[in-house]
Amino acid sequence: MPITDAILPAQQYASRRVATPRRLLMCRPEHFDVVYSINPWMHPDKPCDAGLALAQWEKLYELYRSLGHTVDVIDPLAGLPDMVFAANGATVVDGKVLGARFRHAERTAEGPAYLSWLHEQGFDQVLWPEFINEGEGDYLLVGRRLLAGTGFRTDPRSHAEAQEFFGVPVTGLTLVNPEHYHLDTALAVLSDTEIMYYPEAFSPGSRAVLEELFPDAVLASPEDAAVFGLNAFSDGYNVIMPEAATGLAEQLRQRGFNPIGVDLSELLKAGGSAKCCTLELRSRPVPGGSPDA
Ligand code: ARG
Repeated sequence: MPITDAILPAQQYASRRVATPRRLLMCRPEHFDVVYSINPWMHPDKPCDAGLALAQWEKLYELYRSLGHTVDVIDPLAGLPDMVFAANGATVVDGKVLGARFRHAERTAEGPAYLSWLHEQGFDQVLWPEFINEGEGDYLLVGRRLLAGTGFRTDPRSHAEAQEFFGVPVTGLTLVNPEHYHLDTALAVLSDTEIMYYPEAFSPGSRAVLEELFPDAVLASPEDAAVFGLNAFSDGYNVIMPEAATGLAEQLRQRGFNPIGVDLSELLKAGGSAKCCTLELRSRPVPGGSPDA
């Protein structure tokens, strides 16, 4: 048998997996708590360990840094217990910032807080949106295409607003399962061309769109989706994801990715995990050169 026939799929994929350093924004959960309920995971009557939430978050923060990513932190504001979920704070593509306009009054003040932080950091192409959108919770960039969730939070009219502002194609996807109320709870970007998702979280038409665009996608089981396995962040090789999603991790390993499990049990009580805590700040591409800082 020629030696190439003996190469396992994981080895074949591994040769083309490259981790690229990212610039990320996070928010330390100093004021984290579950005091209201705006998704089915949130039960204000059940206890939540603030110290543990902080310790789990610190581990995630250190993990990103140990993988070579740059992690900025925004100061948490008292009275905004969900501000730890930085993914919702904005959408940043090519150095342009689409601000977040939240659906629920409890989170409204987070939008301007994130937007002014980004502005202070030098992001000067900033749009305060006309329509409700919850940042990277519902906008996920795959290569040069934005996948855009709707159904629970982001207004579908925001999709056209995002396309006009960023000038990249925006593909709308409708979520139908309240437990997967944000796109990043049902779908994760693995590389510039690959995603993983939970089909049952989407409407039949949106499922058909995903099958057409990503015929080789990794599909999550109901068990892995239920432990928030899709709330994952990938740098092209390392995939940081809830450790309980063991089946999904194995599927990723077979594709040559390096899944790294994290425990964010306390934040899950608010309906968030690794990806929700992470906003990617994508800089303006420099023609013919490497991206600026
Ligand atoms: N409690 C928050 C909410 O319901 C959780 C947000 C999670 N963030 C995310 N990107 N999915 O809005």
